[in-house]
Amino acid sequence: MPPSEKAWKGRFTQPTDAFVETFTASVSFDHRLYRHDIAGSKAHATMLGAVGIISQDEAATIVSGLAAVEKDIDEGRFSWSIEREDVHMNIEAALIEHVGEVGKKLHTARSRNDQVATTVRLYLRDGIDALLDQLQALGQVFLLIAEREADTIMPGFTHLQVAQPVTLGHHILAWFEMSLRDQERLLDARKRVNVLPLGAGALAGTSFPIDRDMVARTLGFSCPAENSLDAVSDRDFVIEFTAASALVMVHLSRMAEELVLWSTPQFGFIELADGFCTGSSIMPQKKNPDVPELLRGKSARVIGHLAALLVLMKGQPLAYNKDNQEDKEPLFDTLDTLKDSLRALAELLPTTTFHRDRMRLEATRGYPTATDLADYLVRRGLPFRDAHEAAGRAVRLAIEQKVDLSALALADLKACSPLIAEDIFPVLTLEGSLAARDHLGGTAPRQVRAAVARGHERLAQLKHVK
Ligand code: ARG
Repeated sequence: MPPSEKAWKGRFTQPTDAFVETFTASVSFDHRLYRHDIAGSKAHATMLGAVGIISQDEAATIVSGLAAVEKDIDEGRFSWSIEREDVHMNIEAALIEHVGEVGKKLHTARSRNDQVATTVRLYLRDGIDALLDQLQALGQVFLLIAEREADTIMPGFTHLQVAQPVTLGHHILAWFEMSLRDQERLLDARKRVNVLPLGAGALAGTSFPIDRDMVARTLGFSCPAENSLDAVSDRDFVIEFTAASALVMVHLSRMAEELVLWSTPQFGFIELADGFCTGSSIMPQKKNPDVPELLRGKSARVIGHLAALLVLMKGQPLAYNKDNQEDKEPLFDTLDTLKDSLRALAELLPTTTFHRDRMRLEATRGYPTATDLADYLVRRGLPFRDAHEAAGRAVRLAIEQKVDLSALALADLKACSPLIAEDIFPVLTLEGSLAARDHLGGTAPRQVRAAVARGHERLAQLKHVK
């Protein structure tokens, strides 16, 4: 069919308005679905042949014609046409050009409505699998650093004020936990992506004796969708994926924010590799943490896409509406943004230098072992509230004398509470404070090493097998 001839030409007497043609077309962005659209069409044609809706020969011709179209696109010999509106109609028209009249039988027992829903599900399933692989790789990076830095002392913060000492390994394991949950959410969303819409037709099903189970099996879907109206209309699987993605980006953004802070001279905890930074066009001394800043910034667009998709869906009556064509750009951009962002972090972290001396020094500032002093008094029988007050007096003394808690004289400490004895000093050191938090989930280096070992197992359990 020539490009200007519409599939619906039978019903119309006037040509499509030129602007409307551009306004309604999606091929400029949905052409990237071509491989998945062709996979869906091949499965459909094969089934049509198997059940005798078309002949086996016709099915074989269509399948090889589709393969030829795919090859043309792969090798850059295909020109997409706006007049053919979208990826689906471009491919169908090209098929007819390749194989002639029999190509016109491909669309038997199918509508673009169940076709597009199938194509998007296939595409998204592959996209999720690729992201899961990237999250696995990032998890390995976290575990490697956590193991290496299991003894590295840094200040832990609440309210961005020094709170208690922690190990850098423990901090990185917090990031690891976030990324494990991100994987779980994507795996969970994948289950609901992996359901076959084909067979739903335009909305009500089809009058042909199709075999939906066969198509589902061929395409690796877990089952056919139960309800045809729902199958062609809902894009909740795209929304769920984008919601899980927004959380991935929020996590990456929080990590990035810490990297930005840590790389300032004021913190001085890390130095980012030159290859991951840029300079200033005017200030010669500047080395800017652009990559973490962009990781933080890029979370905004994915959060925006989630909002856009929710709003896109909320007013739609059953069944398919053209509104749904608007799901593609947010979905594609979400996939692209996660792909690049996960890569950026996984490549940046191994090249980052951690300044352990500086972290340790900062951990001594701000009396981070004051809680350990209070806990010590509790172990000697003082109720926690009284112990808190006595430790507070010791902090005031240390501020007056401009020394760390562990540098106070025993006599001064005894003045805060007579229960304090010589054995207080190891308790007030950073190492003592860390070693004391020796239980599952605690920051003691021993626990960090055990958590890393468990982390490897938990990561392996989430490893997705297609
Ligand atoms: N390009 C359309 C989309 O992305 C395909 C389905 C169009 N169906 C229709 N009846 N207009 O949703």
